[in-house]
Amino acid sequence: MTAWKTLHTLRDRAAGRSILSLFDADPARATGFAAEADGLLFDYSKTAIDAETRAALLQLAEEADVAGRRAAMFAGARINETEGRAVLHTALRNPDAAITVDGADVMPELRETLGRMTAFAEGVRAGHIAPPGGGRFSHVVNIGIGGSDLGPAMATRALAPYCDGPEVHFVSNVDGAHIHDVLDRVQLTATLFIVASKTFTTIETMTNAETARERLAARVGADKAPGHFVALSSAPDRTAAFGIPPERVFGFADWVGGRYSVWGPIGLSLMLAVGPENFRAFLDGGRAMDRHFQEAPPSGNLPMLLALTGIWHNQLCGHATRAVLPYEQRLELLPAYLQQLEMESNGKSVAMDGAALDRQSGPIVWGAPGTNGQHAFYQLIHQGTRVVPCEFMAGAAGHEPDLAGHHQLLLANCLAQSEALMRGRSLDAARALMESAGYAGAELERQARHRVFPGNRPSTTLLYPMLTPYVLGQIIALYEHRVFVEGVILGINSFDQWGVELGKELAKSLAPVVAGTETAEGRDGSTRNLLAYLARHRG
Ligand code: F6P
Repeated sequence: MTAWKTLHTLRDRAAGRSILSLFDADPARATGFAAEADGLLFDYSKTAIDAETRAALLQLAEEADVAGRRAAMFAGARINETEGRAVLHTALRNPDAAITVDGADVMPELRETLGRMTAFAEGVRAGHIAPPGGGRFSHVVNIGIGGSDLGPAMATRALAPYCDGPEVHFVSNVDGAHIHDVLDRVQLTATLFIVASKTFTTIETMTNAETARERLAARVGADKAPGHFVALSSAPDRTAAFGIPPERVFGFADWVGGRYSVWGPIGLSLMLAVGPENFRAFLDGGRAMDRHFQEAPPSGNLPMLLALTGIWHNQLCGHATRAVLPYEQRLELLPAYLQQLEMESNGKSVAMDGAALDRQSGPIVWGAPGTNGQHAFYQLIHQGTRVVPCEFMAGAAGHEPDLAGHHQLLLANCLAQSEALMRGRSLDAARALMESAGYAGAELERQARHRVFPGNRPSTTLLYPMLTPYVLGQIIALYEHRVFVEGVILGINSFDQWGVELGKELAKSLAPVVAGTETAEGRDGSTRNLLAYLARHRG
């Protein structure tokens, strides 16, 4: 692709460029390097991308045929080639669409399931669907991991102001401490357990589900325990084998990837918490972003611009990580959610055709909400030797009008950080500061050097009016499509995850060794040594 070549030249040329100088050269930069869509504002002006670079990045997307792959995805083509699957999570948020996979209409079943989920959620919320022993389901425990946990957990936390249903908890880790602590907090006789697992084979989820069933059976009796369970899965034979009747199973097709599944049955816990109407608004937000992604011209297309900024920073400028920094406490689980979405999707070194990737895979994603992160890791972001492109996000308004002062401070901090990263502080400015603080001579020089901020550190900012269900849907779909665009440009299949398998296999074979029923013979020296320590200290 010729755009890569152009971009390498532009990257070299941009090496020493000051971002601030781009604002001096172009008075309209702030608006020219920002795009607004359906209430969202994406600002990428605080990066070293100039008009020429942007043109080359857009050219790159064109050469990679992002538009063609996008059309194929929405049309239900089997673009997940290593698993031979279509990729249609977008259908979940567009239930009225007409979509076929290999000529078969996939929508009637999807609509029927959404209808059943809605009726079920309404029934539980109204108390018509109740525990077999009487009363109401006041607590819900979603048992799932990865995509069967992170999406609903993140969204339920994000939409706390809309949660007026049963209290929802999440158990994911196979660490017994997790289920123990959650079971301690719920009233077992009034708890609905949702076993969320696409495959219904995931060891963590099945172990936790069995523990929940045992505890329940001990408390309410084995006859009543099944009435406390529902399953969300693509494997009806396995849900039946677990003892969950078909009317309590909400299924979905193999074309819904785990990390893209919050929009369908895996979102049942969210629907129970916020109600079907708010859940529908969440879907509508996602759908609106889909339409924008499909229809907006590339230069004003938010997912495209977010992706191209990512490619610029990661594959071209060589910045290995990116920080996601939501100035929104209720988005505290978003970095973890995006870690799976981005790193499980694009953390690959082989291209779709099996050839070695000719550049870096997707970046390492990490982060925490502002302002908390400021008092933890921002030191490195401002003064460390590595450059960490930052992705700020914030809502214009919070949900607490009586705490508007807090919100103003929050926003001031968000804006201050991106400004500080770009502006920095020169040695001269630091010297002046130290002089006015009374320092002189060598000590002044020494103190000043510690107070220099290199600046010129890139960031983007995504602003939204308020974190409503609709807006959350927009943001999540925006990031999904960003990952898609980056994957297409890198030639990666963003929808498989073979890299998680080897560890799973080894864990299976190690379980009897840890339990002491098999020997460690044949294992490497380190693993044998660690096993020996564990055996000595397990008590
Ligand atoms: O191990 C990775 C993974 O397969 C994820 O892709 C998935 O979201 C998670 O495990 C859970 O899988 P399941 O829903 O099948 O339990």
